[in-house]
Amino acid sequence: MKALILSGGKGTRLRPLTYTGAKQLVPVANKPILWYGIESLVAAGITDIGIVVSPETGAEIEAKTGAGDRFGATITYIHQASPDGLAHAVKIAQPFLGDAPFVMYLGDNLIQDGLADFVADFQQKPRGAIIMLKQVVNPTAFGVAQIAADGSVIKLVEKPQNPPSNLALVGVYLFSPEIHQAIAQIKPSARGELEITDAIQQLIATHQPVEAKELTGWWLDTGKKDDLLEANRIILDEYVLRPNVLGKVDEHSKVSGRVVIGKGSQLVNCTVRGPVVIGENCQLENCFVGSYTSIADSVSMSNIEIDHSVVLKGANISGIHRRIVDSLIGERAKLTVSEHRPKALRFMVGDDSTIELT
Ligand code: DAU
Repeated sequence: MKALILSGGKGTRLRPLTYTGAKQLVPVANKPILWYGIESLVAAGITDIGIVVSPETGAEIEAKTGAGDRFGATITYIHQASPDGLAHAVKIAQPFLGDAPFVMYLGDNLIQDGLADFVADFQQKPRGAIIMLKQVVNPTAFGVAQIAADGSVIKLVEKPQNPPSNLALVGVYLFSPEIHQAIAQIKPSARGELEITDAIQQLIATHQPVEAKELTGWWLDTGKKDDLLEANRIILDEYVLRPNVLGKVDEHSKVSGRVVIGKGSQLVNCTVRGPVVIGENCQLENCFVGSYTSIADSVSMSNIEIDHSVVLKGANISGIHRRIVDSLIGERAKLTVSEHRPKALRFMVGDDSTIELT
């Protein structure tokens, strides 16, 4: 069994962060989203992994993720010239996949359930495909499944205006090699993409059994800011199980709960309430850091309060008078208050940024 992780695409919904970087590398609890997917596949015994990347972000993903040694896997990078759809990504990966059955994993998805049981089930009883479903309140934003009373899949539609159910397709699929013939039969959709939902529909039309399994655990599609903050909250809760302070914390600071502080970081007169992760080589002075905050490496913060937020590498935040909440601060972003005109607001804000003064 092989795996194919889709990590190309445009990443428009996480702009402006994704102007400069891949959305699959945006960290959740200081680890790229993509890496959780790789670890989950390896934990299920799948170590031959292909990653589909785009020309814009492929080099960054490859440089950061490497050849797979750190995960105990072998990673092959597959270059997709343009984001022509999930089924198109499978099509160009065919030389890598050969006639092996495989797990297809969308690189911006996170699921709580382990994959081992699904993989074992698929190997024992081969089928055309296993798809995973989860009830959602906004099915129009996803692929949606219509299921018969006996549990079989009747129909799949991509981002329908009138959803036939509230069961969204989760971005993890198990495919038999027959999916390649199905993809060869389909045409690009109205939005110009080769849709994996159409390919699965084609499997159904040619009487290849497609089984749907409803996930019991959480599922996060981290493509948008609030989803990312939610993923950060859940991952901090489930993965940061005990405190681990490698950096220096002075005697005026109070660090309580599950807090991880990386080596080379220094905290002076700070209060930190876990679960929180602070990366390496950060400088924090006179700060309050509240629960569910992730601070990446080399961040400087002074005289601020921050809560339920994600701060990316190299950001510099100082002197903001009100508490920063529910925020996503990009790499090397600078948020300060002018010493001369502390009541005035002065911005240099990148394209597609959002600033909400509350
Ligand atoms: O998250 C679940 C949803 O994912 C499903 O419910 C939908 O049926 C499925 O189409 C997909 O919808 P999204 O709109 O979220 O897909 P997105 O364009 O974000 O792409 C998902 C991942 O696949 C992302 O990591 C980028 C990558 N990708 C996407 C395209 C279109 C590629 O590698 N190549 C592509 O051509």
